[in-house]
Amino acid sequence: MRLLLIGGSGFIGPHVAAALVRSGHLVTVFHRGRTHGSARPLPSGIHEILGDRRRLSESATTLRTLAPHVVVDLVLSSGRQAHELMTVFRGAASRIVALSSCDVYRACGVLHGSEPGSLEPVPLTESSPLRTGLQTYPPERIRMLQQVFGWLDDEYDKIPVEREVLGDADLPGTVLRLPMVYGPGDPLHRFFPMLKRMDDRRPAILFEEKHAAWRSPRGYVENVAAAIALAATSEHAAGHIYNVGEAESLPELEWARLLATATGWTGDLVTLPADRTPAHLRAPGNLDQHWTTDTRRIRQELAYTEPIDRDEAIRRTIDWERAHPPPIDPGAFDYGAEDAAFR
Ligand SMILES: NC(=O)c1ccc[n+]([C@@H]2O[C@H](COP(=O)([O-])OP(=O)(O)OC[C@H]3O[C@@H](n4cnc5c(N)ncnc54)[C@H](OP(=O)(O)O)[C@@H]3O)[C@@H](O)[C@H]2O)c1
Repeated sequence: MRLLLIGGSGFIGPHVAAALVRSGHLVTVFHRGRTHGSARPLPSGIHEILGDRRRLSESATTLRTLAPHVVVDLVLSSGRQAHELMTVFRGAASRIVALSSCDVYRACGVLHGSEPGSLEPVPLTESSPLRTGLQTYPPERIRMLQQVFGWLDDEYDKIPVEREVLGDADLPGTVLRLPMVYGPGDPLHRFFPMLKRMDDRRPAILFEEKHAAWRSPRGYVENVAAAIALAATSEHAAGHIYNVGEAESLPELEWARLLATATGWTGDLVTLPADRTPAHLRAPGNLDQHWTTDTRRIRQELAYTEPIDRDEAIRRTIDWERAHPPPIDPGAFDYGAEDAAFR
């Protein structure tokens, strides 16, 4: 098959490209030419087309001439972008695969305080209610996220993206709702705060009680990429939505235990009530709202399984985090306040 990956040269894309090339497919990556793999370069033999997805129509002739069987758009930010995507490829491609996020669920809005009402039952299945408010994050948070994710536009919201991609009578779509993705190249360095404390040989790592128990979906980047490659090459995926992520949404404290095992750290993991937890360790939001997701559909319908086991995934992520630490914010590592709270 001929596949086009829009935004395929960042954190996740090179792994998708590698999985597709390994299976004998022809892959083209569309991007601006600024990012060449966050941690893994694009595999050799990949065709690249340079252009800007914010002005996708300007590249329409080149992209349509390619006549891809499937277009995987890794970096759709808004309904407007998705509408333009469908317009460009209608009549030129057979299917669109869009990366979405678990942030479409109402549970995300309950956690962030933007959705009124009761807690959402978990696990979240593909038919769980979506947010009623069509703004995922307030403008100041969008601006902060744009510093990390250059593809995010001011209208960021995956709900209208999904509607456009699944609502076209002539061009079928597939939507993949991604979990929090970890691995080499993670732009958010999700493991780093715990890893640094373990490498600094802290005697104890503190958690606010509710944060320790909070469950959210996660997926290792190569495993998420394998799910994307599978959905892109499975005809059966047309018209479907799939949650992607590990089978079990572990609590934060369990992730800390796994990291402790992997690093050999032997300190104490300590949970504290909110009023005794140092301010820099308090997680915002309604942590009674878990984000546990049900990923059985992609496993049952597309026979998805993770190619990399979790222990190996954690080892690879730790190795990369140690070699590529982010800039340190001293306020986020106020060990004095942590010692005082623990005493
Ligand atoms: N990471 C997570 O935890 C997570 C969770 C849920 C969902 N997701 C989804 O995963 C996707 C992000 O994938 P990623 O982490 O691989 O992204 P990434 O690392 O930020 O890579 C961005 C890619 O898009 C290209 N790009 C950026 N702006 C562009 C533009 N204006 N025109 C053309 N290409 C552009 C970049 O290449 P150039 O710079 O060369 O253009 C690069 O190839 C998003 O859809 C996100 O919603 C991620």
